[in-house]
Amino acid sequence: MKIKVKSPANIAFIKYWGQRDSHFILPYNDSFSMNLSHCITEITIERLNDDHKKEVFLEDYLTKKVIPIQQERLEKIIDYYYLIKKFVDKKDDFGFRIFSKNNFPIKSGIASSASFYSALALGFSYLFMEKNLPEKNLSILARLSGSGSACRSIPDGFVWWKKGKNSKTSYAYSIAPPKYWDLVDLVLIVSEKEKIVGSQEGHQKALTSPFFKLRLTDLKRRIKEIKDAFLKKDFEKFGQLIEEEALSLHFVAMTQIPPLYYWSGKTIEIIKEIVYLRKKNRFGFFTIDAGENIHLICQKKDEKFFFQYFSQKKEIKKMIINYPTIGARLWEVKEN
Ligand code: PMV
Repeated sequence: MKIKVKSPANIAFIKYWGQRDSHFILPYNDSFSMNLSHCITEITIERLNDDHKKEVFLEDYLTKKVIPIQQERLEKIIDYYYLIKKFVDKKDDFGFRIFSKNNFPIKSGIASSASFYSALALGFSYLFMEKNLPEKNLSILARLSGSGSACRSIPDGFVWWKKGKNSKTSYAYSIAPPKYWDLVDLVLIVSEKEKIVGSQEGHQKALTSPFFKLRLTDLKRRIKEIKDAFLKKDFEKFGQLIEEEALSLHFVAMTQIPPLYYWSGKTIEIIKEIVYLRKKNRFGFFTIDAGENIHLICQKKDEKFFFQYFSQKKEIKKMIINYPTIGARLWEVKEN
């Protein structure tokens, strides 16, 4: 059997930073995101009879060369395969050959691990069960991959990850379909280089920041306010809150030990531009994940303006326009 799965990256408006349980990947706080229509991982998994054969190939986003994944990265995927086998309670093993490609740069703050691991959760579980797992279980499984935010790429549209009390109650669900709000995430890419420190390492040290506790206290209010702004589709209030949230995460990251500075000078230049444009009544707001690239959130009516404006900026290498979209999907099933 050979299957094809597609899954989107997601951008968090309320972010996950810090793990209260690093084995079960349980977060300290709820988070809230939107799936990205043009940041997609597509994987094909071929089930092989030889259960010792476990191969993964990745198409490099820049060179389009197909590279075999080796060592720790491969081991992590094989470990995840065994975790899924246990989760779905199956006895028999199978071999696999995975081919993965992305239409956006990986490891640069555009959640490529979320799209990859959510696709893998769906793909492996389908090959074990020969049917789809219920969405809630799939989301739990994606969370257990280690890239917790992968759980938010499973449901459709705008997605809430509740921190839950334990592993069974920490999962993501859709709070609104993609059509609910015509938001745009214009990813302003200032660098396509892979970051040096991954979010996994970042989560482990979050508590060493003196601002972490303050962030958690502040989040109670921010979460209440963002829910309200989302319900009312109050874009300016919503935008103000997502910026506040991104800054709060990065203040923690920059003050943890060892400190993590994901931003570059170019990131700051772009942030300043976005703030300046608001003075001219052009309402866009920034959010930034674990990388130096900027996600500019605007409304559909302003997309063209921002696209043209930032096309002329020397700092920007590339832009990706994203709309809210559906979550991970099984795309094709071929029996040999
Ligand atoms: O799910 P991880 O371990 O890749 O961490 C995600 C961390 C952020 O992207 C910075 C925040 C988030 O909630 O997506």
